[in-house]
Amino acid sequence: MRILFIGDVVGSLGRKAITEHLPKLKKEYAPQVTIANGENAAGGKGITEKIYKTFLQERIDVVTLGNHAWDNRDIFEFISDAKRMIRPANFPKQAPGVGITFVKVNDIELAVINLQGRTFMADIDDPFEKADELVKIAAKRTSYIFVDFHAETTSEKQAMGWYLDGRVSAVVGTHTHVQTNDARILPGGTAYLTDVGMTGPYDAILGMKKEPIIEKFMTALPKRFEVVETGRSILSACIIEIDPRSGTTKSINPILINEDQPFLA
Ligand SMILES: [Fe+2]
Ligand SMILES: [Fe+2]
Repeated sequence: MRILFIGDVVGSLGRKAITEHLPKLKKEYAPQVTIANGENAAGGKGITEKIYKTFLQERIDVVTLGNHAWDNRDIFEFISDAKRMIRPANFPKQAPGVGITFVKVNDIELAVINLQGRTFMADIDDPFEKADELVKIAAKRTSYIFVDFHAETTSEKQAMGWYLDGRVSAVVGTHTHVQTNDARILPGGTAYLTDVGMTGPYDAILGMKKEPIIEKFMTALPKRFEVVETGRSILSACIIEIDPRSGTTKSINPILINEDQPFLA
């Protein structure tokens, strides 16, 4: 089983990068499951029903989210009907939506789990405890389990990778919007990447206009951050291959497409 995972889609440039590159990526890698993190898809803040539906039309099978899940209020109207969209599972149970879903690939299933870290982020429920609970549920149905761990620190992400090593197929990080160069298979057989990176504005700071952010660093005064809507873009993703017979993960390869590293296939 091959899984294509696309990192945080930011604004209209991110969505355009998907439209432009996803068909080529599908042709090159033939993934059976495509997952994308959509927490910044609507102008950098959250996701709308229209965008979610466009993602499905573009053959994205599962949309994961993160701390920006709730930024666009549209989500409260459609999250309970959006069966292919999950939000971090360790939000308090009163929050709408769920943090796990299953995708059928021929006669096997892939469980997709979304969790969020707590270091330098909101103090939500324990993601490690929640991971135990959900992996137990998923393992009753399948040995193919993918985890999007949306977290700020490299240490919390590595901790989750090691904690779940041997129990899930892959732990891939999102949220920091910069792809890390540490893709590996951990000794227990779990694919791991600290952060897959973002998909959206390339001449920007994490997808946002540069100037207000530089000013904020220089003045320490509050600034309004705005998403970049025109110009060059980047697509960040990874491809994970799981042996269909043994269920063990064979490889994880990061993908970056931008003007400095064009997609040549
Ligand atoms: Fe993000
Ligand atoms: Fe985030």
